[in-house]
Amino acid sequence: MELTVVVPTYNERENIAPLVERLAKVLEGTEWEVVFVDDDSPDGTAELVRQLAQKDRRVRCLQRIGRRGLSSACIEGMLTSAAPFMAVMDADLQHDEALLPRMLNEIRRDDLDIVVGSRYVEGGGVGGWSGPRIWISSLAGRLSRLVVRANIADPMSGFFIIRRDTFEDEVRRLSAQGFKILLDLFASSPRPLRFKELPFKFRLRVHGESKLDTLVALEYVNLLLDKLVGHLVPVRFLLFALVGSLGIGVHLVALSIGLHTLRLTFPVAQGVATLVAMTGNFLLNNVFTYRDQRLRGLGLVWGLFSFYVVCGLGAAANVGIASFIYRSEEPWWLAGLGGALVGSVWNYAMSSVFTWTRRR
Ligand code: GDD
Ligand code: MN
Repeated sequence: MELTVVVPTYNERENIAPLVERLAKVLEGTEWEVVFVDDDSPDGTAELVRQLAQKDRRVRCLQRIGRRGLSSACIEGMLTSAAPFMAVMDADLQHDEALLPRMLNEIRRDDLDIVVGSRYVEGGGVGGWSGPRIWISSLAGRLSRLVVRANIADPMSGFFIIRRDTFEDEVRRLSAQGFKILLDLFASSPRPLRFKELPFKFRLRVHGESKLDTLVALEYVNLLLDKLVGHLVPVRFLLFALVGSLGIGVHLVALSIGLHTLRLTFPVAQGVATLVAMTGNFLLNNVFTYRDQRLRGLGLVWGLFSFYVVCGLGAAANVGIASFIYRSEEPWWLAGLGGALVGSVWNYAMSSVFTWTRRR
């Protein structure tokens, strides 16, 4: 086995057979296999891959249940491989498979870690992208300079070949979040990676649709933050704290409405505002901070109640600690800050155990 082609899939049923056919054509004369890593697509992609695999032992399927994520799918697909070289490419035929033999030839020579299929070197390009998409892509590219020092034209490409030793050296350092596996590889490497970019034209998608959405953009920010400050504070805690500070705004607005519009007494209005803020924080955390473990249906209701309990105890700890600091004759703001910090760390830690329990 010389080459494993790892292909992440989510609802790509119609693209599977054409892709395998094309791979067989361009990789003729090479010992290769293709591993489709499917996140339990509702359209039955995995089932179809297994049907093909019945007749062709070069085709394999890794089906993941209850999980989503392009990067983690690529990583786990590569971990199933024993080949010296591993390619990653999309299932949707947007990546030009005809480039694979040339990429393979380049990486066979000893002096490269990665060969990238690049849209942004001479001869490459994107076909038919809308103005905003081009703009967003170039913005994301510029942001990537925060974490990647290599002078690579297309760090966001999802099309590349990597040497297995390089991958093995790095795999434990990867963030594995979001869409940008190549960026992750470059940003996580302790030494500069030796790479080469070969141009290709990014084709239009014919079947199925793109999974790139606003959540993917958020995951990108997540990846950048993790590479920038992840060794100091968990990114999840940063998001949790950010949502918490938004919650203060929500609380004040609700309090004002309770007092001035509904004419409630202060203790009642403050109580209602607290409930509103906690509920808002819970929903925001559920969508952003814990989007990978999002609670739905009954789980959402149960989660909300556990969140009330956690935050209630957090508030008690907050007041207790703050009063203790205050009594030791520290300034009032230090006491307040200390209490808030302890309260939020408590809320974060406890809600990660009791509210957003990792599904098994
Ligand atoms: N297993 C799995 N899980 N696969 C996924 C998931 C997921 O959660 N989300 C997307 N995929 C698969 C798709 O089925 C497809 O094969 C591939 O990943 C790319 O997804 P698209 O939705 O087609 O992404 P795109 O075309 O918008 O983005 C591509 O181009 C970007 C450059 O602009 C990708 O190659 C990106 O990695 C690349 O940055
Ligand atoms: Mn695509």
